[in-house]
Amino acid sequence: QILPVILSGGAGSRLWPLSRQAEAKQFLALSGDRTMIQETADRMSGPEFLPPAFICNASHVDQIQTQVPDHGEILVEPEGRNTGPCAMAAAMHVMATDPDALMLLAPADHVIERPDAFREAVLRAAPIAAAGHHVTFGMTPDYPATGFGYIQQGQPIDAGLFQIESFREKPDEATARGWLETGGYHWNSGIFLFKPSLVIEEMLTLANDCANPARKAYVNATRNGAVIALEPQAFARCKPEPIDIALMERTSKGAVLPCDLGWRDIGSFRAYRDLHAAGDDSVIFGDGYSQGSHRSLIDTDGPLVALVGLDNVGVIVRDGRILVVNLDAAQDVKSIVTRLKADQ
Ligand code: GDD
Ligand code: MG
Repeated sequence: QILPVILSGGAGSRLWPLSRQAEAKQFLALSGDRTMIQETADRMSGPEFLPPAFICNASHVDQIQTQVPDHGEILVEPEGRNTGPCAMAAAMHVMATDPDALMLLAPADHVIERPDAFREAVLRAAPIAAAGHHVTFGMTPDYPATGFGYIQQGQPIDAGLFQIESFREKPDEATARGWLETGGYHWNSGIFLFKPSLVIEEMLTLANDCANPARKAYVNATRNGAVIALEPQAFARCKPEPIDIALMERTSKGAVLPCDLGWRDIGSFRAYRDLHAAGDDSVIFGDGYSQGSHRSLIDTDGPLVALVGLDNVGVIVRDGRILVVNLDAAQDVKSIVTRLKADQ
């Protein structure tokens, strides 16, 4: 059996004002009719999967329960300490639920255009994970992105699966460019298939200051129906590290399954435009009009937006808030939101 644990911590501030603190990215329908968290849960369902567990902050519990009625337990973190402590608490939880189950740790905010291929990949990886490898799903890089982890492929283990020669979280652009030229590297999709007992053992050794307080926070958690509140004092002592650094950069037991899933991390309005754009066309949601503009994006919930002679520009209107952004600088929306505080 596979127990999915869905990471639902972020607010998606790079997509402000579409996403806001109260309406985080994973609860929005950015690619179709279903919200991102619903699509995530949908593609992890079937006979091999237990109902998904979640790890999130307290303010998101209601939305998860409403949007994913067939959910497993919801682990509530007292504060955000990044994904390392989450992975440790989640591994403890899977062990407590079913010690033989594998843990499929996955972000709530990715688009996967081929859910069948995803399920196939997970099932193909399962025996290798059970045998004691931390399995990652490798995506083919097409530009020197600095927002992803890079996996260097090593020796073959089994059909389609390879050892991880090295793992590097978010390299600088020059390094990434070099690796693209060398070849043999994959982007880390941020989805992992783990044997929970091995995660616990290795994290206590390789990232004790991140993992041990998380272990205690789970052991001393308060349970209320399906909601498990991690103990705040222990959790606050967790070193805030992502799982990619806490475990994946340090372990020698990594494996990679390169696959083509139509995977996208909709991390910015540029990625949102690319998800919906065909060629040089602009993308328009709502009452918008573009003339002599290319590769632009209009998304408005009311006011008519007209764009003339502007390329690569995003205009987003929500609840009386307006963002106008050069889509090449779409990553920087996060810092303006921090400064606008009012909307956090
Ligand atoms: N519950 C909880 N608590 N969830 C969290 C927290 C936290 O403190 N921090 C992040 N998350 C959730 C986010 O909401 C997201 O779903 C997932 O964990 C990954 O976190 P991101 O902050 O989005 O990570 P990233 O995109 O910078 O990098 C990761 O994903 C890339 C692929 O999209 C890494 O795994 C990279 O190696 C990878 O390439
Ligand atoms: Mg991300």
